[in-house]
Parts: sequence; structure tokens; C-alpha cells
Amino acid sequence: MLFDPRPKECSHELYGRQKELRRLLTAFKRGEPLILLLGIRRVGKTSLLKVALRESGLPYIYLDLRAVGEDGFTRAALYIQLSGALSRLSTRYRIADYLRRVRGVKILGSGVELDWGMKPPLLNQLFTALNNWAIEQQTRIIIALDEAQLLRYMTGGKGRLNFRALLAHVYDNLRQLTTVLTGSEIGLLMEFLEAGGKESEFYGRYREEVILERFNREEAIGYLRAGFRELGIEPEDNSIIDAVEKLDGVVGWLALYGYTATRNPDKEPKEILQQVITEAKSVATQELRKLIYASHNYRLVLKAVAEGVDEWSKIKRRIESWSGKYMSNAALTRLLTRLQNLSIVGKSNGRYFFLDPIMRLAALEL
Ligand SMILES: Nc1ncnc2c1ncn2[C@@H]1O[C@H](COP(=O)(O)OP(=O)(O)OP(=O)(O)O)[C@@H](O)[C@H]1O
Ligand SMILES: [Mg+2]
Repeated sequence: MLFDPRPKECSHELYGRQKELRRLLTAFKRGEPLILLLGIRRVGKTSLLKVALRESGLPYIYLDLRAVGEDGFTRAALYIQLSGALSRLSTRYRIADYLRRVRGVKILGSGVELDWGMKPPLLNQLFTALNNWAIEQQTRIIIALDEAQLLRYMTGGKGRLNFRALLAHVYDNLRQLTTVLTGSEIGLLMEFLEAGGKESEFYGRYREEVILERFNREEAIGYLRAGFRELGIEPEDNSIIDAVEKLDGVVGWLALYGYTATRNPDKEPKEILQQVITEAKSVATQELRKLIYASHNYRLVLKAVAEGVDEWSKIKRRIESWSGKYMSNAALTRLLTRLQNLSIVGKSNGRYFFLDPIMRLAALEL
């Protein structure tokens, strides 16, 4: 169902995105070592990734770094996720014999368990084992890491892993492996890959970038129409146009609108739209609150940009007049850069704006 609120897995459930799907599949086929799939929140990254993995017919490992984060970015949390992903791989392919040679890996039937006790497994060895199996089978394995900017929380420190070094090792040495990283906080993903500039393990290494844009107006209208038609519903043009205008082309919000509408056939479209905006806004507000918790100044910057104050010097003046305090140039630049890195705010021709209209509404009410 086009309005299914979960990420899609089959290509027939995917509206549009054929060009991006082809690019991913071609990159897999060519054996690109590193692919970045980038786009703002709810734009459809996980869906496209999962469909591509399935369509490719290649063996793969899929890890959702948000799930690792729920348990605090510990090694244990990572190993639990990785054990699950390797077990799924091992039910489909006879890979257990390769994995059992890796320190800290236990094989129980088709289950693969990573033991993080006394002698934790070495991920380098684990990936090398996967590569060796792929050489033997004359295939490739895709290592897909969803929301990879979160890997920065696993880098360095006691009990942490140097993921950047690990990925660079995979890039340089394990030719049968392709790594796909998705990121909704695009700047932060780049920061993770390139931290240290020329010293970074990824300095100067090619990466294939696939950028998922929002649906344009036509695509967004087409998506809603197709989704309703699939369910035998013919909504009025006005209600569709209204939803597209408010939710822009962010497919996740459009899907939520369609899903909510089909679940509440007695409600007026306007009421449904309001309900979806409220729900989406509360997700956005939670995200923005995390930032404000780090620094109260974010609230002022977000509010100024949300109100349409879009030039750097005007934003500065507005904040100073609200707070009654001087703000240094460096401080404002830092705040705005961070908001760009988080893909909350964009910049074009020297003007700042919200990338997602829902985020903007949430910021207005901060
Ligand atoms: N091309 C598409 N066609 C139809 N529905 C889609 C498409 N892309 C995404 N969706 C729907 O939109 C919602 C969000 O998709 P998805 O989870 O893939 O986005 P995301 O960018 O990974 O989101 P997040 O930033 O929260 O991780 C889901 O309900 C999904 O089914
Ligand atoms: Mg996702």
C-alpha cells in the first residue's frame, strides 16, 4: 500500500524514485566502494535503500543506527543489531563456516551471535570473513548503515569503536564489499567522514552520492491521488492540493496524511490535515527541543528564520533585540552552521530558510 506508514521494501510499493533506484542499483553493480544516500527527514531514504537492497538480489547486511542509539551506542548494542543482521544473512546463504573462524562469533544453527564478553569480536576480521565468502561465491555484499551520522557517537573513547577507520579499511581492502550510508543530518554525516580534514581516513576517496529530493508539486499530487485510488477513494482536488501545499513534497508526511484519512473516513479532509500537521509538528518539536537543551540561543535563531528573517545580519539584529544581549558573529555562525549540518535549515543566495515546512511551524511555536 502506497500509504503504508512503514518503510517500503518492494519496488511496486514505491511511488516514483525510479531514477534514484536505478542509480543505486548501477552503483551496486559497478562495485562502488562507498555510496551515500542523502535526504532530509521523512523523504524516503530507508524505503529506497530497502527496495534497492531487495531488487539487487545481492546478499546484504542492514543496520539501523537509530536502533543502536536506543541502547546508548554501546558495543553491546551494536553487536546485538549486527548479530541479527548476520543471522538473517546466514539463513539465506551458507556463510556460517566463514564466520565461525572469527574470534567472538558463535554459530547456533543458522543464528549468529557476537559475544562481547571477554574477547569481543574484531569487526575488521568479521568484515574480512564476509569479503572472503563473497570472493569464493563471486558475488558482492552490501553493507547498509541507516542514519550513519550516528556512527560518530561510536568513534573513539573507551569501549567505543573507531568506525571511520573500520570503514576506510573496508573501502581500501575489501573489494567485494560495498558500503551504503544514509543520512538525514547530511552535514553531520560529512563531518563524521571528513573529521580531521586531510588526516581523515576518507580524505580524497571517491563516494557516489544519491540525493533524495522532496517530491515536486506534480509528483506529490500524483502520489496522493495514486494512494487514494489504490484504496478505491476519490478525494476532492481541493483537499489534495491543500495537503500538498501544507506538507510540501515530504513523502513521509504525505503518507501519514493518506493513511490517517483512510483510517478515519468520517472525518473532514481539513480536520485530517490538521491532525497530521499536529502529529508531525510534535515530532519536529521534540527534535528542536533537544537542540535548545544544548543552547537556548537555538530557540532564537530558529524562531527568527521561521518568521522569515532570512539574512545573516538581520537574524543577528533580531536575536539581539529579543534577548537584549550582544551576540558575537562567531556564535551566530556556529549556530547557523549547526542547523545546516542537521539539515534543518538550508541556505541559498545568502538567505536562510527551513527545509521542511513542518519544522518551520514547530519552530514558530517554540
Ligand atoms: N517513494 C515512495 N513511495 C511511497 N511511499 C513512500 C516512498 N518513500 C517513502 N514512503 C513512505 O514515507 C514514509 C517515510 O519513509 P521512510 O521511512 O523511507 O523515510 P526516511 O527518509 O527514511 O525517514 P526518516 O528520516 O524518519 O528515517 C513511510 O511511510 C514510507 O512508506
Ligand atoms: Mg529512515
